[in-house]
Amino acid sequence: MGAGAVRLGVAGFGNVGREFVRLLLERRGLLEERYGLRVGVSFVADSRGALCAAGGGVLEWGLVERALEAPRGGVSRLPGGRPGLGVEGALEECGTDVLVDATPSRYEDVEPALGWWLRVLGSGGAVVAADKAPLAVACDRLAVYIYSKPRLYYKATVMAGTPLIDLLRWGYAGRRVERVVGALNGTTNYLLTRAVEGASFGEALREAQERGYAEPDPSADLEGFDLAAKASIVSCTLGGWIPLGRVERRARVDGEAFERARRATAAGRRLRYVAVVEPAAGRAYVDLLEAEPGSVLYDIRGVENAVVVESAEAGPVMLRGPGAGARATAAALLSDLVEAASVMGVL
Ligand SMILES: NC(=O)c1ccc[n+]([C@@H]2O[C@H](COP(=O)([O-])OP(=O)(O)OC[C@H]3O[C@@H](n4cnc5c(N)ncnc54)[C@H](OP(=O)(O)O)[C@@H]3O)[C@@H](O)[C@H]2O)c1
Repeated sequence: MGAGAVRLGVAGFGNVGREFVRLLLERRGLLEERYGLRVGVSFVADSRGALCAAGGGVLEWGLVERALEAPRGGVSRLPGGRPGLGVEGALEECGTDVLVDATPSRYEDVEPALGWWLRVLGSGGAVVAADKAPLAVACDRLAVYIYSKPRLYYKATVMAGTPLIDLLRWGYAGRRVERVVGALNGTTNYLLTRAVEGASFGEALREAQERGYAEPDPSADLEGFDLAAKASIVSCTLGGWIPLGRVERRARVDGEAFERARRATAAGRRLRYVAVVEPAAGRAYVDLLEAEPGSVLYDIRGVENAVVVESAEAGPVMLRGPGAGARATAAALLSDLVEAASVMGVL
């Protein structure tokens, strides 16, 4: 595509992947005008195959728009589609400068995603990710691409892109972060809000599922697994990585936690389910914590996320914002794309 241009490969074409492509269609004029960045899509892939531009080119925008109308698993049935072509094959054949990974976070087996990332990063490209698993499970293999060759961008993985990762990665560069405490799981934040509004655990969980906040199998949220992954990603960002398997899960959200939430509220505090990262102690854990008035952890309501960052050099810094949602997550991918292009010298 020439100077000032990047070819994007989009792996995963579900809620987030599609919303990212929609946003790209809306904003590609702005990217060119404001940053001199021209983007094209070299492939989009779902679990069944890919739509791939031939000869290292990019897909016609009209075809990209048609892909948005294809049913789930259907991109490879469009003209030029390649049923059965996986992401690995698409990287081989379609030509990609930046891989956007919006495939499911599979902690039990980070391949093939980790392999895709290492392949792109190792050949001088960049990765922009919503997929949390490779960082939480294999940060040691990726850390070089966070700081010394910064071509891996992943702020969508925590707080759906409310820019905590940018803050820790760049805002705190060269400083000593002592503690990060975050209510970083929208589902359990919602449940604990409903607890103090008088709902039973069962009712609140059903509501959360009906509203699309909780998965049909909510255990990853309730048992602290999602929070543990985010704690691991935060520790990866700060150096002193604590692998997902070493993040202690000290509490869960259940009927008993609901009782505790009501007792905390009666005593003027609010119960939160948090991830805590203490880099100097080499410790990360998930626990229930009683937040005091004056803390952003106290103030949040519903699915909203909040975090407090304490450093050796300054008092607490607080951030709150959305923690889920395809639009917010897609916007984080878009802003990471601009950052990646800038660092790669494309702008
Ligand atoms: N949704 C959010 O608010 C949010 C926020 C932050 C981070 N995330 C992360 O973003 C990622 C995507 O979430 P989502 O909600 O968009 O999930 P989703 O709707 O389930 O979409 C996942 C997509 O990945 C595709 N896929 C699965 N395995 C694949 C493979 N081996 N190769 C290529 N494509 C494959 C699926 O294909 P089919 O279409 O064929 O099924 C689907 O298109 C997850 O890692 C999630 O944790 C999501």
